[in-house]
Amino acid sequence: MTTSTPLTQDELKALVGQAALRYIVPGDIVGVGTGSTVNKFIDALATVKDQVRGAVSSSVASTERLRAIGIAVLDANEVEQLGVYIDGADEIDGQGHMVKGGGAALTREKIVAALARQFVCIADESKLVDTLGRFPLPVEVIPMATAHVARRFAALGGQATLRLKDGQPLVTDNGQHILDVTGLQITDPLALESEINQWPGVVTVGIFAHQKAQVCLLGTAQGVKTLNF
Ligand code: A5P
Repeated sequence: MTTSTPLTQDELKALVGQAALRYIVPGDIVGVGTGSTVNKFIDALATVKDQVRGAVSSSVASTERLRAIGIAVLDANEVEQLGVYIDGADEIDGQGHMVKGGGAALTREKIVAALARQFVCIADESKLVDTLGRFPLPVEVIPMATAHVARRFAALGGQATLRLKDGQPLVTDNGQHILDVTGLQITDPLALESEINQWPGVVTVGIFAHQKAQVCLLGTAQGVKTLNF
Protein backbone atom coordinates (compact mmCIF):
# COMPACT_ATOMS: atom_id res chain seq x y z
CA MET A 1 0.00 0.00 0.00
CA THR A 2 1.34 3.45 -0.87
CA THR A 3 0.74 6.46 1.27
CA SER A 4 0.79 9.85 -0.43
CA THR A 5 2.10 12.88 1.39
CA PRO A 6 -0.16 15.93 1.20
CA LEU A 7 0.86 18.59 -1.28
CA THR A 8 2.63 21.61 0.16
CA GLN A 9 1.21 25.10 -0.35
CA ASP A 10 3.97 25.70 -2.88
CA GLU A 11 2.95 22.57 -4.84
CA LEU A 12 -0.70 23.66 -4.79
CA LYS A 13 0.34 27.02 -6.23
CA ALA A 14 2.29 25.26 -9.00
CA LEU A 15 -0.77 23.11 -9.76
CA VAL A 16 -3.10 26.08 -10.26
CA GLY A 17 -0.40 28.01 -12.13
CA GLN A 18 -0.23 25.13 -14.61
CA ALA A 19 -4.04 24.78 -14.77
CA ALA A 20 -4.40 28.44 -15.75
CA LEU A 21 -2.72 27.73 -19.10
CA ARG A 22 -5.97 26.33 -20.45
CA TYR A 23 -7.55 29.81 -20.31
CA ILE A 24 -5.04 31.23 -22.76
CA VAL A 25 -6.25 31.60 -26.32
CA PRO A 26 -3.37 31.03 -28.76
CA GLY A 27 -2.17 34.29 -30.31
CA ASP A 28 -3.67 36.35 -27.49
CA ILE A 29 -2.11 38.96 -25.23
CA VAL A 30 -2.47 37.77 -21.66
CA GLY A 31 -2.89 39.85 -18.51
CA VAL A 32 -0.50 38.74 -15.79
CA GLY A 33 -0.84 39.56 -12.10
CA THR A 34 1.63 39.53 -9.23
CA GLY A 35 2.65 37.28 -6.37
CA SER A 36 4.04 33.86 -5.55
CA THR A 37 1.14 31.99 -7.22
CA VAL A 38 1.48 34.05 -10.37
CA ASN A 39 5.19 33.33 -10.37
CA LYS A 40 4.25 29.64 -10.77
CA PHE A 41 1.94 30.61 -13.63
CA ILE A 42 4.81 32.50 -15.30
CA ASP A 43 6.99 29.38 -14.93
CA ALA A 44 4.25 27.36 -16.67
CA LEU A 45 3.83 30.05 -19.33
CA ALA A 46 7.49 29.62 -20.26
CA THR A 47 6.63 26.19 -21.67
CA VAL A 48 4.05 27.62 -24.12
CA LYS A 49 5.51 31.08 -24.66
CA ASP A 50 5.36 30.79 -28.46
CA GLN A 51 1.56 30.61 -28.20
CA VAL A 52 1.16 34.10 -26.73
CA ARG A 53 1.68 37.38 -28.55
CA GLY A 54 2.71 39.14 -25.37
CA ALA A 55 1.58 40.17 -21.92
CA VAL A 56 0.40 43.17 -19.96
CA SER A 57 1.80 42.99 -16.46
CA SER A 58 0.62 44.38 -13.13
CA SER A 59 4.02 44.97 -11.53
CA VAL A 60 7.67 45.65 -12.15
CA ALA A 61 8.45 42.26 -10.56
CA SER A 62 6.19 40.31 -12.96
CA THR A 63 7.43 42.34 -15.93
CA GLU A 64 11.00 41.34 -15.14
CA ARG A 65 10.04 37.66 -14.84
CA LEU A 66 8.08 37.72 -18.10
CA ARG A 67 10.93 39.37 -19.98
CA ALA A 68 13.40 36.87 -18.51
CA ILE A 69 11.45 34.01 -20.16
CA GLY A 70 11.28 35.88 -23.47
CA ILE A 71 7.69 37.20 -23.38
CA ALA A 72 7.13 40.72 -24.72
CA VAL A 73 5.51 43.01 -22.15
CA LEU A 74 3.27 45.69 -23.59
CA ASP A 75 2.19 48.95 -22.01
CA ALA A 76 -1.45 48.82 -20.87
CA ASN A 77 -2.17 51.87 -23.04
CA GLU A 78 -1.29 49.91 -26.18
CA VAL A 79 -4.03 47.34 -25.52
CA GLU A 80 -7.75 47.87 -25.82
CA GLN A 81 -8.87 44.54 -24.44
CA LEU A 82 -7.39 41.36 -23.02
CA GLY A 83 -9.06 37.97 -23.26
CA VAL A 84 -8.00 36.94 -19.79
CA TYR A 85 -6.28 38.30 -16.70
CA ILE A 86 -4.67 35.72 -14.44
CA ASP A 87 -3.82 36.70 -10.89
CA GLY A 88 -3.76 35.45 -7.31
CA ALA A 89 -5.66 36.79 -4.32
CA ASP A 90 -5.17 37.18 -0.60
CA GLU A 91 -8.79 36.12 -0.01
CA ILE A 92 -11.66 35.07 -2.24
CA ASP A 93 -15.27 34.45 -1.20
CA GLY A 94 -17.92 32.17 -2.66
CA GLN A 95 -19.09 34.87 -5.09
CA GLY A 96 -15.65 35.65 -6.56
CA HIS A 97 -15.12 38.86 -4.58
CA MET A 98 -11.49 39.22 -3.53
CA VAL A 99 -9.10 41.05 -1.25
CA LYS A 100 -5.83 41.77 -3.04
CA GLY A 101 -2.73 43.85 -2.54
CA GLY A 102 -0.64 41.75 -0.19
CA GLY A 103 2.15 42.25 -2.72
CA ALA A 104 1.44 46.01 -2.94
CA ALA A 105 0.50 45.77 -6.64
CA LEU A 106 -3.26 46.37 -6.24
CA THR A 107 -3.57 49.54 -8.32
CA ARG A 108 -1.97 48.10 -11.42
CA GLU A 109 -3.81 44.83 -10.81
CA LYS A 110 -7.14 46.65 -10.92
CA ILE A 111 -6.14 48.49 -14.08
CA VAL A 112 -5.08 45.34 -15.94
CA ALA A 113 -8.14 43.45 -14.63
CA ALA A 114 -10.34 46.22 -16.07
CA LEU A 115 -8.93 45.54 -19.54
CA ALA A 116 -9.80 41.85 -19.41
CA ARG A 117 -13.00 40.11 -20.43
CA GLN A 118 -12.36 37.39 -17.84
CA PHE A 119 -10.57 37.38 -14.46
CA VAL A 120 -9.18 33.96 -13.58
CA CYS A 121 -8.06 33.83 -9.96
CA ILE A 122 -5.47 31.20 -9.04
CA ALA A 123 -5.18 30.36 -5.37
CA ASP A 124 -4.54 27.60 -2.89
CA GLU A 125 -7.49 26.61 -0.72
CA SER A 126 -6.28 28.64 2.28
CA LYS A 127 -7.49 31.75 0.40
CA LEU A 128 -11.17 30.73 0.23
CA VAL A 129 -13.24 32.43 2.97
CA ASP A 130 -16.90 32.85 3.87
CA THR A 131 -16.56 36.56 4.56
CA LEU A 132 -13.71 38.82 3.41
CA GLY A 133 -11.77 40.69 6.10
CA ARG A 134 -9.58 38.23 7.93
CA PHE A 135 -6.61 39.25 5.78
CA PRO A 136 -5.69 42.89 6.50
CA LEU A 137 -7.22 45.02 3.74
CA PRO A 138 -4.52 46.78 1.68
CA VAL A 139 -5.30 50.34 0.60
CA GLU A 140 -2.94 52.39 -1.56
CA VAL A 141 -2.97 56.03 -0.43
CA ILE A 142 -1.32 59.30 -1.36
CA PRO A 143 1.13 59.90 1.51
CA MET A 144 -0.38 63.23 2.67
CA ALA A 145 -3.78 61.54 3.15
CA THR A 146 -2.52 58.63 5.28
CA ALA A 147 -3.64 59.91 8.70
CA HIS A 148 -7.01 61.12 7.40
CA VAL A 149 -7.77 57.79 5.69
CA ALA A 150 -6.67 55.92 8.84
CA ARG A 151 -9.19 57.97 10.89
CA ARG A 152 -11.96 57.14 8.44
CA PHE A 153 -11.22 53.44 8.86
CA ALA A 154 -11.22 53.87 12.64
CA ALA A 155 -14.74 55.29 12.34
CA LEU A 156 -15.74 52.01 10.64
CA GLY A 157 -14.11 49.95 13.42
CA GLY A 158 -10.91 49.19 11.53
CA GLN A 159 -7.28 49.71 12.55
CA ALA A 160 -5.03 50.98 9.78
CA THR A 161 -1.27 50.41 9.89
CA LEU A 162 1.22 51.95 7.50
CA ARG A 163 3.10 49.18 5.69
CA LEU A 164 6.84 49.37 6.21
CA LYS A 165 9.79 47.96 4.33
CA ASP A 166 13.22 47.95 5.93
CA GLY A 167 11.89 50.28 8.63
CA GLN A 168 10.61 52.88 6.14
CA PRO A 169 7.15 53.37 4.61
CA LEU A 170 6.87 50.99 1.67
CA VAL A 171 6.74 52.89 -1.63
CA THR A 172 4.61 51.24 -4.33
CA ASP A 173 5.44 50.99 -8.05
CA ASN A 174 3.31 54.17 -8.31
CA GLY A 175 5.22 56.11 -5.64
CA GLN A 176 2.46 55.88 -2.99
CA HIS A 177 2.03 54.24 0.43
CA ILE A 178 -0.03 51.26 1.66
CA LEU A 179 -2.29 51.08 4.70
CA ASP A 180 -3.19 47.58 5.93
CA VAL A 181 -6.53 47.59 7.73
CA THR A 182 -7.56 44.96 10.27
CA GLY A 183 -10.84 44.53 12.13
CA LEU A 184 -13.20 44.85 9.16
CA GLN A 185 -15.97 42.35 8.43
CA ILE A 186 -16.57 42.91 4.73
CA THR A 187 -20.13 41.65 4.48
CA ASP A 188 -21.04 43.87 1.50
CA PRO A 189 -17.87 44.07 -0.62
CA LEU A 190 -19.50 46.04 -3.47
CA ALA A 191 -20.80 48.76 -1.14
CA LEU A 192 -17.60 49.04 0.90
CA GLU A 193 -15.43 49.22 -2.22
CA SER A 194 -17.67 52.00 -3.59
CA GLU A 195 -17.55 53.93 -0.31
CA ILE A 196 -13.78 53.79 0.19
CA ASN A 197 -13.25 54.74 -3.45
CA GLN A 198 -14.85 58.11 -2.61
CA TRP A 199 -12.41 59.03 0.14
CA PRO A 200 -9.93 61.75 -0.87
CA GLY A 201 -6.38 60.42 -1.07
CA VAL A 202 -7.35 56.80 -1.66
CA VAL A 203 -5.70 55.61 -4.86
CA THR A 204 -7.04 52.05 -4.76
CA VAL A 205 -8.76 49.89 -2.20
CA GLY A 206 -7.84 46.21 -2.31
CA ILE A 207 -11.47 45.02 -2.49
CA PHE A 208 -12.06 43.54 -5.94
CA ALA A 209 -15.86 43.29 -6.00
CA HIS A 210 -16.71 45.52 -8.94
CA GLN A 211 -13.98 43.61 -10.76
CA LYS A 212 -14.47 40.22 -9.23
CA ALA A 213 -13.20 36.91 -10.58
CA GLN A 214 -15.32 34.98 -13.07
CA VAL A 215 -13.36 31.81 -12.38
CA CYS A 216 -11.25 30.58 -9.46
CA LEU A 217 -8.84 27.70 -9.90
CA LEU A 218 -8.45 26.51 -6.34
CA GLY A 219 -5.61 24.20 -5.37
CA THR A 220 -6.92 21.59 -2.92
CA ALA A 221 -5.73 18.30 -1.48
CA GLN A 222 -8.04 16.62 -4.03
CA GLY A 223 -6.57 18.55 -6.97
CA VAL A 224 -7.61 21.71 -8.80
CA LYS A 225 -11.24 22.73 -8.26
CA THR A 226 -12.80 25.13 -10.77
CA LEU A 227 -15.24 27.60 -9.25
CA ASN A 228 -17.34 29.63 -11.70
CA PHE A 229 -19.03 32.80 -10.49
C1 A5P B 1 -0.41 41.33 -5.06
O1 A5P B 1 -0.51 42.68 -4.80
C2 A5P B 1 -1.58 40.59 -4.54
O2 A5P B 1 -2.80 41.07 -4.92
C3 A5P B 1 -1.47 39.12 -4.84
O3 A5P B 1 -2.30 38.75 -5.89
C4 A5P B 1 -1.80 38.38 -3.64
O4 A5P B 1 -1.06 38.94 -2.57
C5 A5P B 1 -1.54 36.90 -3.75
O5 A5P B 1 -0.20 36.63 -3.61
P1 A5P B 1 0.34 35.17 -3.39
O6 A5P B 1 0.06 34.43 -4.65
O7 A5P B 1 1.83 35.38 -3.18
O8 A5P B 1 -0.33 34.61 -2.19
